[in-house]
Amino acid sequence: MERYIVNGGSPLNGEVEIYGAKNAALALIPAAILTEEPVVINNLPDVSDINVLLEAISQIGAKVERIDRHKVRITGASVTSHQLNYDYISKIRASYYLLGALLGRFHEAEVAMPGGCEIGARPIDQHIKGFEALGAKVQITNRQIYAKADELKGCHIYFDMVTVGATINVMLAAVLAKGNTIIENPAKEPHVVDLANMLNSMGANIRGAGTDVIRIKGVERLHKTEYTVIPDQIEAGTFMLAAAITKGNITVTNVIPKHLESITAKLIDIGCEVEEFDEAVSVRFGEKLLPTQVKTLPYPGYPTDMQPQIAVALALASGISTITESIFENRFVYSKELNKMGARIKVESSNTAIINGVKKLTGAHINAPDLRAGAALVLAALSAEGTSVIDGIEYIQRGYENFEGKLQALGADIIKTEIEED
Ligand code: UD1
Repeated sequence: MERYIVNGGSPLNGEVEIYGAKNAALALIPAAILTEEPVVINNLPDVSDINVLLEAISQIGAKVERIDRHKVRITGASVTSHQLNYDYISKIRASYYLLGALLGRFHEAEVAMPGGCEIGARPIDQHIKGFEALGAKVQITNRQIYAKADELKGCHIYFDMVTVGATINVMLAAVLAKGNTIIENPAKEPHVVDLANMLNSMGANIRGAGTDVIRIKGVERLHKTEYTVIPDQIEAGTFMLAAAITKGNITVTNVIPKHLESITAKLIDIGCEVEEFDEAVSVRFGEKLLPTQVKTLPYPGYPTDMQPQIAVALALASGISTITESIFENRFVYSKELNKMGARIKVESSNTAIINGVKKLTGAHINAPDLRAGAALVLAALSAEGTSVIDGIEYIQRGYENFEGKLQALGADIIKTEIEED
């Protein structure tokens, strides 16, 4: 097991290149096995969630060739099994995309119940509703989900809430179905659009991704492609917040500024200067951090995956702020850790936190409770006076490639060490 040791107090300055989006890549990898032909994916982040998913598809027979650290060739011709019950696959949320992909290709799929960060109940009823609407029968036994259809037929689906996972899963299952599928109230996140773009480059016929209605005309087969994953909106946002929190000046490069607009708007609200370029965004700390109200929402609203990071900035703002979490019901667990560092965050109900800004945070021994909160705690430690020890960093490694290396290049005093067993 590893941990970070951080000596805080120095501003972070400089440029940081953003890698490909983890959550997009997690959808593109299952999409690649919808065809027998080779699919090359560029700009793949080298993080543990991606590596687990690549291992999973190779377990069911796909040929996975790592061309370099950020490029993979996947050939689905040799996929023979539609059954994935390996324990480790249940640890990642996106394992359930293999249900949609295998159901789409073989009309039969069996996958362990998905895991992921403990940020709420995270039911999958909308995924099941979508598969059933396409003609599948779905059973859950012994923590395995089994779906089977004689034939998949296009259908009309209205999601009860905006869900990224179910939107992507139904797209994966519907591209090869007979006839037309219409998804109403879909998620509009950049990675939903990225998946549609890659599938279309493979011969699919998907229109409207990124809008309120997605229309899919089923096709008989998909073919090879080479595709580049979009930049990671959340990795970029995390470094943008790092500039605010450490009183620094950071330029994130290789980004799509449009995807970052809700984050940019909040940084301006709290007193930072933000400048947008074609493929970069610069964030400079102003004179002080100002309090604000934040409500997490589906895209294009402020992302729930950026909620803990802005909480750290607001913990250092001059006044009282509130955060309303409207996507997940258990996403303030990190507040206890921040309070150990001297923050004053009161969680009023499962979805509201009141943050009373303090002048400074102080180093402490803290524990990352999940991926994004883990990254936020590192930013808190970088701003704090003194030394912090951060455990649970395996969560951070699920979604941030070389996080400590990128922070060091910006001037951070952070090292990763092995935890010695007693
Ligand atoms: C994805 C992202 C995650 C992000 C989240 C919201 C991946 C791998 N993960 O998670 O990082 O925080 O979107 O942007 O891309 N819900 C149901 N029933 C369902 C499906 C969802 O009630 O069948 C609820 C969830 O509990 C949650 C809300 O809908 O309250 C949104 O969930 P969803 O968008 O599906 O999140 P994930 O796909 O799990």
